[in-house]
Amino acid sequence: MTRTVYVNGEYLPETEAKVSIFDRGFLMADGVYEVTSVLGGKLIDFDGHAIRLARSLNELDMNNPISKEDLLVVHRELVRVNEIDEGMIYLQITRGAPSDRDFAFPDPDTTPCTIVLFTQNKPGLANSPAAKVGMKVISIEDIRWGRRDIKTVQLLYPSMGKMMAKKAGADDAWMIEDGFVTEGTSNNAYIVKGNTIITRALSNDILHGITRAAVLRFAQEAQMDVEERNFTIEEAMQADEAFITSASTFVMPVVEIDGAILGDGTPGRVAPRLREIYLEESLKKAI
Ligand code: PDD
Repeated sequence: MTRTVYVNGEYLPETEAKVSIFDRGFLMADGVYEVTSVLGGKLIDFDGHAIRLARSLNELDMNNPISKEDLLVVHRELVRVNEIDEGMIYLQITRGAPSDRDFAFPDPDTTPCTIVLFTQNKPGLANSPAAKVGMKVISIEDIRWGRRDIKTVQLLYPSMGKMMAKKAGADDAWMIEDGFVTEGTSNNAYIVKGNTIITRALSNDILHGITRAAVLRFAQEAQMDVEERNFTIEEAMQADEAFITSASTFVMPVVEIDGAILGDGTPGRVAPRLREIYLEESLKKAI
C-alpha cells in the first residue's frame, strides 16, 4: 500500500509529494516538528502536542498555518487512509519557500509556511520487546544550541549522538552540560532512587516532553515521589533504576549507563510499572 501523506492542504501518495528546494526547512533547518503516537488507531495526547507546536511556532515568530481542529482532522484522516493501528504521525512546519536563499526571514504574507504530515506504521509499538530488556546508554557532551525547549528540526547533533552510541555498542546517548545530564538525544532522562523519581527541571535546556508531563502526573497519583532537579552521570550510574520517556518509546527502562549496570541489569520495578500506567491511562484518553 502506498503511503498517503499531507502536504500544504493536499493528501497525496508519498511518491507525488513535493517541497521546494528553497524551502527554509531544507536550507536552514528553519522549522519545527511534532511526533504524536497512535495506539489502537487513536492519537495519544494530541492536545499536548498541538499546544507545544503552537508554542514552538510562536517562539520562532512563525504563523500557525492550521487550527487545532483542522490539525486533528488531518491526523485522523492520515491514520484512517493509511490504516495505522500502532505507530506515529510526524508533523513538520517550516517557514516556507521564498524565491531564493536568504538569511532574513521572508514576509509571511507572501511566503506561507510549509506543512507536511506523514504516518509511520509501527506494529507492536506498545508491546515492545526492548521495554522488557531495557536499553544501554552512553554519555556525550551536550553541544546543542540554547533553545532546546523549541522543537526545531535541527537534529544533526542528536543523530550524531545516536551514531556515537551505536559505535559504542549502546542504544542511545544522554547528554551532559556543566556536569549534569540534560536529556537523551530524542527523549527525557530519569533516574530512580528508592521510591523517588529524579529528572531535570523544565527550562530552555531541555525539551518539555509531553510524555514527561503525563508520566510525572501519573507517578504522583501513584504515590511515587518526584524530584525535579539536576543529576550527574555518576549519580545516575549508582541509581537503582533509570528510564527515558518520549512519544515514540513511552517509558523505556535503561539498564546500563556508560558501562555501569544498574541494579541486577534488568528493568527493575518503577519504570515497568510507570510504562504500564502510562499506556493504560493514555489509551483511556486517546482520541
Ligand atoms: N523526540 N527530548 C528531546 C530532545 C526529544 O527530541 C524528544 C522527543 C523528547 C520527548 O518529548 P515527547 O515526550 O513530547 O515526545 C525529549 C521525538 C519523539 C522525536 O524526535 O522523534
